[in-house]
Amino acid sequence: MSRIVYVNGRYVPYAQATVHVEDRGFQFADGVYEVCEVRTGRIVDEERHLARLNRSLRELSITPPMSDAALRVVISEVLRRNMVRDGAVYLQVTRGTARRDFVFPDPDVAPTLVVTARSVDPSKGQSTAEQGIAVVTVPESRWTRVDIKTIGLLPNVLAKMQAKEAGAREAWFVDRDGHVTEGGSSNAWIVSESNVLITRPAESGILRGITRTTLFDLAQAHGLKIEERGFTVDEALNAREAFITSATTIVTPVVRINSTVIGGGTPGPLAMRLREKFHSVAASRPI
Ligand code: PDD
Repeated sequence: MSRIVYVNGRYVPYAQATVHVEDRGFQFADGVYEVCEVRTGRIVDEERHLARLNRSLRELSITPPMSDAALRVVISEVLRRNMVRDGAVYLQVTRGTARRDFVFPDPDVAPTLVVTARSVDPSKGQSTAEQGIAVVTVPESRWTRVDIKTIGLLPNVLAKMQAKEAGAREAWFVDRDGHVTEGGSSNAWIVSESNVLITRPAESGILRGITRTTLFDLAQAHGLKIEERGFTVDEALNAREAFITSATTIVTPVVRINSTVIGGGTPGPLAMRLREKFHSVAASRPI
């Protein structure tokens, strides 16, 4: 089956799906994106992802390409045409195509919308979680507006490549005060001795992850305490458990940070329980 991609109003075969060379996404990384999990034929936390997409667009004064209702139709159609039951859907909106100029183009330049989808075998993520992942710490090198989910991801690319070269799955950015901000493509969490979940406040230095937000709902439903505060690398190295959250990894335990083994090198039981229960609280709708 050939893959089908949505580009600016058309559903086209993957190989023919193109945007203009002067698209501002290509020229300036002038755009934003979202990734939603698709699980057992349902789209997970779509409303929260669309709300964040609209916020990102607003923060950058990019015109929304269409209404949320229309976007939901496109998302479903791309998933259906690609027969995705488990996997992810990717949405990207850029400021559109215009002659290269740093200042915004005329307001009548239409934004570019691309929607792609792919199947992912859910057992892969599950076996990764059951093994646990390694992370490496890297100095924070990003701009201050990481609360906007922009496609400008070069520091994340370099950090995650550094992680890969060190045999790790994720890189944790560390700010000037020695506090972990977040992962290259995930939020960072630790668990204290008294089983309190600790994660950095979303007010600065991180993306307000949708998985993170839904985990707050889950914690509340199960009477678990969350402390929203920064934590240092040293605290993480001595934590009972550590884990990451994102739409593609859900909750995935961390069993090594740099060369230090966490929780005896096996996935934390609390992280695994949260992973198991996650979809019982996450909103979802059928494709
Ligand atoms: N990344 N922080 C960063 C820097 C991210 O890129 C992501 C998601 C998250 C977690 O957000 P959420 O829970 O909404 O997925 C946090 C996606 C999955 C990606 O870039 O592929």
